[in-house]
Amino acid sequence: MITRIEKISSVSGTLVLPGDKSISHRAVMFSSMAEGKSGVINFLDSEDIASTRNCFQQLGAEIKREGDELTIWGCGRNGFRKPQKNLDAGNSGTTARLISGILAAQTFESVLVGDESLSKRPMKRIADPLKKMGADLKLTDEETLPIIFTPSSNFHSLDYTLPVASAQVKSAVLLAGLFNRDYTIVREPFITRDHTENLLGLDVEVENSLRIIRVNENNYPTPKEYIVPSDISSAAFFIVLTLLLKNSEIVIKDILLNETRTGILTVLKLMGADISADNVKNYIGEPFGDLIVKSSELNNISISSEIVPNIIDEIPILSVAGLFAEGKFEIRNAEELRYKESDRINALVENYKRLGVKVENFNDGFSLEGGVANKSTVLDSFGDHRIAMAFAVLSLLTEKEIGIENFDCVKISNPTFVKQLKSISR
Ligand code: S3P
Repeated sequence: MITRIEKISSVSGTLVLPGDKSISHRAVMFSSMAEGKSGVINFLDSEDIASTRNCFQQLGAEIKREGDELTIWGCGRNGFRKPQKNLDAGNSGTTARLISGILAAQTFESVLVGDESLSKRPMKRIADPLKKMGADLKLTDEETLPIIFTPSSNFHSLDYTLPVASAQVKSAVLLAGLFNRDYTIVREPFITRDHTENLLGLDVEVENSLRIIRVNENNYPTPKEYIVPSDISSAAFFIVLTLLLKNSEIVIKDILLNETRTGILTVLKLMGADISADNVKNYIGEPFGDLIVKSSELNNISISSEIVPNIIDEIPILSVAGLFAEGKFEIRNAEELRYKESDRINALVENYKRLGVKVENFNDGFSLEGGVANKSTVLDSFGDHRIAMAFAVLSLLTEKEIGIENFDCVKISNPTFVKQLKSISR
């Protein structure tokens, strides 16, 4: 099916977006692990989080939903039960990689599966350290899902330096480390999102640019009330739209402002964006506040390699900002984009080509130059929610009709995207 979003001339008003995806996953997981009753307020009600909820319900957690609040009765350290069928992570890499750290430590067998896209994504990155911890797990010959976990009689701690900038890999090892008396140490040469550390209250030492994180059984989660700030990655689409439309100004309430996630704001501000934060608060180590965004003239800048892990989910929409900014947009050192819900470098390059933009495709990124051709076009989301929303924003910035195939996948991270957009459209 092809979706076309109605053209608008400006945006204004206030947006209240759903809860952050990364924090929602972790809040559901840690509540399910803790023994007793926890609450998750403003959780993200999307397909990815439904995958996490379903997996933990199968493991024995009781989860009740009322409005935007979940009440979870968790199972405790030895309380998970053998699932009756395969655990299905759906489209969600975070579910699959984080739950693997937990399943590797259990005393029952389990099988973890995913949808077609997730079943192509690399799992060796988590299997390697978990095997080093003594886990007994088997992947396909392509080192992908399904993974079969068998109880290990020799599950132990690990001192591990992350070979890839991935919060999911870091978190898989840290969660596995919760099941051992000895300390597991993760050394991180790159800065990736640190919600696992914050929500578990882990010890983090910084030595030069190396982050050293320690975890053992004493860090096992206890029941809590989680308040989930609104998702900055979902906000990024509305931020870029506001910046690029004329006579526009919006306020986005209670957005997560954790420094490992605000790279998109840093880059856009360096490009000339008028974005400010107000009412900044902090809850369980996670800062959040209101963002005020106004129409701006943008210029492309050189994007440093260090900030790439921090903006990895926002690169699709950042490229839209770059296309309409002065000068050439170029992103490099971003090979990880190839291992997301789609190969995002190919998905972006293919769609920009269809739009008549001059594109260069590199192994680790791409560049864009020149404007969009004056013709109607149909683009493809490649089943990837962030590609769908990035081009939905772009479609509002051109005169010609732009349709998007397979737009439905936005339900992975923000089922309310179109409704939210309508609420600020003028
Ligand atoms: C996530 C980590 C990132 C990110 C994903 C969510 C997380 O993936 O792209 O959307 O919640 O830990 P990687 O760890 O593969 O970089």
